[in-house]
Amino acid sequence: MHSSATTGFGPYYDAAEPKPLHPILESARPWLTGNGLALDLGAGTGKTSVFLADLGYQVVAVEPDPEGLSRLHARCEGDPRITVCEARFEDFDPPKCQAAVSILSLFFLERSRLDPFLERLLAAIEPGGVFVGQLLGPNDTWVADGCAGHTRSDVEALFASFDLRVWDEVEKDAVTVLGDPKHWHVHHIVATKRQPSSVDMTPPLR
Ligand SMILES: C[S@@+](CC[C@H](N)C(=O)[O-])C[C@H]1O[C@@H](n2cnc3c(N)ncnc32)[C@H](O)[C@@H]1O
Repeated sequence: MHSSATTGFGPYYDAAEPKPLHPILESARPWLTGNGLALDLGAGTGKTSVFLADLGYQVVAVEPDPEGLSRLHARCEGDPRITVCEARFEDFDPPKCQAAVSILSLFFLERSRLDPFLERLLAAIEPGGVFVGQLLGPNDTWVADGCAGHTRSDVEALFASFDLRVWDEVEKDAVTVLGDPKHWHVHHIVATKRQPSSVDMTPPLR
C-alpha cells in the first residue's frame, strides 16, 4: 500500500464487502442526525454511503479509484439520495455539510497534502455537524511507507473547535483486511463542531 495510491483497492473491496459496517458508525450514531448533507470520503464500494442515506442524509460519495467507482455506481445507480463524485481529496472542494465521514481513507494521502485538505474539510462542517473517521498515529507501519501520521497533540490541534465525543487511540500488532501482518496505530474519532460562542470573552480595553 503506498500513500497517494488511488488505484489498486480492488482486493480490499473484495475482502471488505461481506464484512459489517465499521463499528465507529455505531459509536457515532447519536450524532448522526440524518439531516442535511453528508460526505462519504473515500467511499469505496458505497456501503457507508447507503447507511448514511438510510439515516436520512443526502450523500456525496467521493472516490477516485476506477474499481471503487464502478462498484459505487452499480450500488447507487438510480438512488436519488446519493451523488457519486469522482475526485481525490486533494482536488475536492468540500461543500458545507452536516456530516463528514471517512472510513479508513484519509491517511492514504501524505501528511503535507492531507493537512490542507483536512483544514478545508473541518471548516466545511456546519456547527453541530459531525466528523467520523480515522487518522493514523505515527507508529503505524504505513506511516513509514508515506501515509499520513498524526500525534495526539496534532489531533487536539486539528479538532480545537470540536468536541471529541469518541477518541480511541488503538495501538496493536494485527493483520489487515487482506490478512497481512502490520502494526496498527489508529485514532478512531467522532467529533462534533461547537457552535460559535455568542459570548465575547475579550477583556475590555481601558
Ligand atoms: C481502505 S479503503 C476504504 C473504503 C471505504 N471507506 C470502506 O470503508 O470500505 C480506502 C479508500 O480511500 C480511497 N482513497 C485513497 N486515497 C484517496 C485520495 N487521495 N482521495 C480520495 N480517496 C482516496 C481509496 O480509493 C479507497 O476506496
